[in-house]
Amino acid sequence: MSRTPLIVGNWKMYKTVAETRDFCLRLKDEMAFTKGKQVEVAVAPPFTALSAAAQALRGSFISVAAQDVFWAESGAYTGEVSAKMLTEVGCHFGIVGHSERRQYFHETDVSINKKAAALMKEGLIPILCLGETLSERQGGSTLVVVERQTRQGLKGLAVQDPQKLVMAYEPVWAIGTGQTATPNQAQEVQAFLRKLLAEIFSPNMAEGVRILYGGSVKPENIGELMAMNDVDGALVGGASLEVKSFAQIVRGSISP
Ligand code: 13P
Repeated sequence: MSRTPLIVGNWKMYKTVAETRDFCLRLKDEMAFTKGKQVEVAVAPPFTALSAAAQALRGSFISVAAQDVFWAESGAYTGEVSAKMLTEVGCHFGIVGHSERRQYFHETDVSINKKAAALMKEGLIPILCLGETLSERQGGSTLVVVERQTRQGLKGLAVQDPQKLVMAYEPVWAIGTGQTATPNQAQEVQAFLRKLLAEIFSPNMAEGVRILYGGSVKPENIGELMAMNDVDGALVGGASLEVKSFAQIVRGSISP
């Protein structure tokens, strides 16, 4: 398997510009151990701090991700930010479809699909999030739900380079709850997603696209998650807010 592990810190609505600058400068130092190792790292600060993060991380291998984007190129959309604006401030990735956006901001598979397309058009790499709720899992519909989210989220996207897309399986019941999916639960869904990618795109895409796991990832559980064949990295919330714990997660994602 030749997929390079990818660890992304999703800061959600935490950290000011000053805190971001401080974090990123310390993270750069802390990442010295990754030299010569196969790993990619990104942080996703709030919009207001993207530029500060990109500046502080300049010259390092750590990249910047936006937590969301709007699908139009420009227009009368009060409060929104376009993909081009994200490129301008130094973003490399854009998260779309996070369950908090689906839940609190009523995002649909259709709008998420348009957002992913807008990012790709601008040359940014979408990190498409999906995952079932607790009641969906208990009702036995996990795979049906993630299949719908995947097919609709990726609808009409013509992508041939596996490096240009990242998927993130984040079971809603595992986010911010301390209750991580077991490695086998993550593996079951992520192997299923990889098969779907082969159907939607091609075997080559399926083999190369990174599928991250997210939901209560911590330094203590990253190793067992990464040991799974189809877990290629992590989308980390709470534990990405401290340099030390985030760095430990990066360390734990590197193959020995
Ligand atoms: P936690 O790691 O805090 O559970 O959050 C996961 C998440 O939502 C990352 O996008």
